[in-house]
Amino acid sequence: MENIITIERFILDNQPEYAVGEFTNLLYDIALAAKAIAANTLRAGLTDILGLAGATNIQGEKQQKLDVFADQIIIRLCDHTGRLCVMASEEHEDIIPIPPKYPKGSYVLVFDPLDGSSNIDVNIGTGTLFAIFRCVDWDLRGRLEDCLQPGRNIIAAGYILYGTSTMLVYSTGSGVHGFTLDPNLGEFLLSHESITAPDPPKYYSVNHSYIRHWSDGVKKYIRWLQGRDGSDLLLSERYIGSLVADFHRNLLHGGVFLYPGQASKPEGKLRLLYEAAPLAFLIDQAGGYASDGHRPILDIIPSNLHQRVPLFIGNKELVEEAEHFIRKVDSD
Ligand code: F6P
Repeated sequence: MENIITIERFILDNQPEYAVGEFTNLLYDIALAAKAIAANTLRAGLTDILGLAGATNIQGEKQQKLDVFADQIIIRLCDHTGRLCVMASEEHEDIIPIPPKYPKGSYVLVFDPLDGSSNIDVNIGTGTLFAIFRCVDWDLRGRLEDCLQPGRNIIAAGYILYGTSTMLVYSTGSGVHGFTLDPNLGEFLLSHESITAPDPPKYYSVNHSYIRHWSDGVKKYIRWLQGRDGSDLLLSERYIGSLVADFHRNLLHGGVFLYPGQASKPEGKLRLLYEAAPLAFLIDQAGGYASDGHRPILDIIPSNLHQRVPLFIGNKELVEEAEHFIRKVDSD
């Protein structure tokens, strides 16, 4: 037992000096929300599977309810503690203010409560993503401006993967660390300390069905990833269609995930604030890189809460090569 490190102990032992107290407790709050979502996600998966025969129509509704549950549990666990001044969620059009009856803290929480939830009824992993900022101005804290910050301002980010086991992976700016939920103890235990993007990488991940909508630069880049046109890469293709699960696999095994823009949707599908920026912070901490095909994701200042962005993320050299192909081919 003495080698077992719980997430509480790890956070406490590794908290950045500036963050003692409020910030550390905020991470506990998120870990607690993660346990509640994990319990319900597993149960919902069971209900869905057992209910499949007669309840085709209820599927959509149920999935939606789980998104709402995840959203509400995070809000309820975080809104009254005096640690946050505002939140933003993928499920809400506007910012989520702290109710006036509660004190306002200095931190800002942005999150996607349950990404990939349409995968639950086919038993595929889903995830929660989050990032934490400091408020921009203490006297005016709690405004939209606090949420519309570039990834460079993130002070902590992470995700929870509800897969064959539940994992919480986070960084406070000194490495990326992973914890696995022990269902018997009800605790997240340190299982992956100081994760770094492995080299050589093993995978590239993209939804190939969109090929006709991509630019020539992206198409040529993918040929290069496939080991054609003069490259000697030996990557396998893996794509789940659930961002956290796809990212997690590539983080542990090395590779690149891409969701490029399309001719009719140049901004792509994934959300800058809730998906791309938190993962960009993590991959940067793991020695990798995230780009929109032209510039670092971390440098992009969001102009609205639900802004979308093309995403190329993973091993540094592979992502830099995407920028290279796009610059060279698409600007000709
Ligand atoms: O953003 C929602 C999401 O389900 C992500 O988790 C995933 O990476 C992506 O959409 C999959 O999109 P598509 O089905 O277009 O490949």
